[in-house]
Amino acid sequence: MRVTFPAVFWLLFSGPFAHADSPISTSLKIVPRATRDQQTAPYTFDPNLYQGTKSEYPIGVFDSGIGGLTVLEAIRTLDAFNNETLAPQADGKLDFADEQFVYLGDQANMPYGNYSARGKEDYLRELILKDTIFLLGKRCWLDSKAASPSMTKPPVKAIVIACNTATAYGLEDIRTAMKTWQISLPVIGVVEAGARGVSESIKNSGAKRNVGVLATVGTCSSMAYPKAIVTSTGLAGKPVPEVIQQGSANLANAIEANPTAIHDCIRQDIRQLVDNHLQSGSKQPLDTIVLGCTHFPLVQDEIQKELNRLRNVEENGKRPYEAMIAATIEFVNPAELTAKELFRELARNRLFNKVESENAINDDQFYISVPDGTSSKLPLNNDGSLTTEYKYTRTIDRFEVEDTRCVPMTKNLLPSTSLNLIQQRLPEVWKRLSATAP
Ligand code: DGL
Repeated sequence: MRVTFPAVFWLLFSGPFAHADSPISTSLKIVPRATRDQQTAPYTFDPNLYQGTKSEYPIGVFDSGIGGLTVLEAIRTLDAFNNETLAPQADGKLDFADEQFVYLGDQANMPYGNYSARGKEDYLRELILKDTIFLLGKRCWLDSKAASPSMTKPPVKAIVIACNTATAYGLEDIRTAMKTWQISLPVIGVVEAGARGVSESIKNSGAKRNVGVLATVGTCSSMAYPKAIVTSTGLAGKPVPEVIQQGSANLANAIEANPTAIHDCIRQDIRQLVDNHLQSGSKQPLDTIVLGCTHFPLVQDEIQKELNRLRNVEENGKRPYEAMIAATIEFVNPAELTAKELFRELARNRLFNKVESENAINDDQFYISVPDGTSSKLPLNNDGSLTTEYKYTRTIDRFEVEDTRCVPMTKNLLPSTSLNLIQQRLPEVWKRLSATAP
């Protein structure tokens, strides 16, 4: 894959720390420096923020939308370690009680899962780097129509990519960018954690497992999960499972904004997953499902119900799916494993906040991207979102164009369906979001 984000490098190093002769590639579009405010230019951050101690910084978490809040909920509610000794043993104190978080949902540019099908992987990768730069820097917008950006967002000491699609397409880019920027921060992606979850669920001497990955179309076409599962089980010396995938084009969107479509989407996707398994020639039933999209844990019960229903479906006096779906399905939700990985990485890098927090519910900051409210040229739908056509036809290397803005996530910026989901399924996040976003 082509790495096409040199503009980021140029812009970053074109600030006060820049060298005029920074390495630039041929695909770079140079933006005249004189037209930019070096401190507040779009998609820039000050690398000096990463010179000294960082342990008091918050932890950055991003996703394409609200799905990543399932990961934040898992992080915020984890008690799997002893906070004093760091040993893997619950101690009755939440593992991240003294930590603060900054969350970004790139709602204006979602679904990330459909960029690859439109041949726009490069644009997606650029979006993922822009999310990263947002988390690293202090620049944000107080509202979509503000005259100038605000430099009030804190920098972060670790990045959690709470999005499977963004991990699949952007994890390596982010790690490469960090090296180029000479910044050393833990970067954790949900796919590796999910693959480890599969591996941990397999007994050393157990039978070969049959794993179904339910994810976005983009995550599936990247093959990130099959590769990571093979690596993870192989490294652990476990039997490498069969992996079947099904990419869902609509389920994440339905969960966010169109709940009446959820049932049909699940029916279609589960049937297709099991058909894929049938067509693979496997004689063993599917016994493990990876919830490979951050939204899907929110509908795990519905997925289980659909698997039960399909198992008992009769066609021409037979039950064609019975032998293909195990009576007991093991679900792998990468969120909790990601939370554990974050703990281990903070421990390894000695990055825990040494200042004991009162665990105030307004410790966390939530941001969401919205279309630039000052532009009259952006093509918008009736609900104010960018049109699908516009979203998926943008071209890369236009870091001077800031068509979306990251603003504080207020409740009026989320559809009521999303708010209901967060309130019902993610109580810890809801409490914290409510404290900062009335
Ligand atoms: N959150 C994304 C993931 O985990 C899915 C939503 C999207 O397509 O933007 O893959």
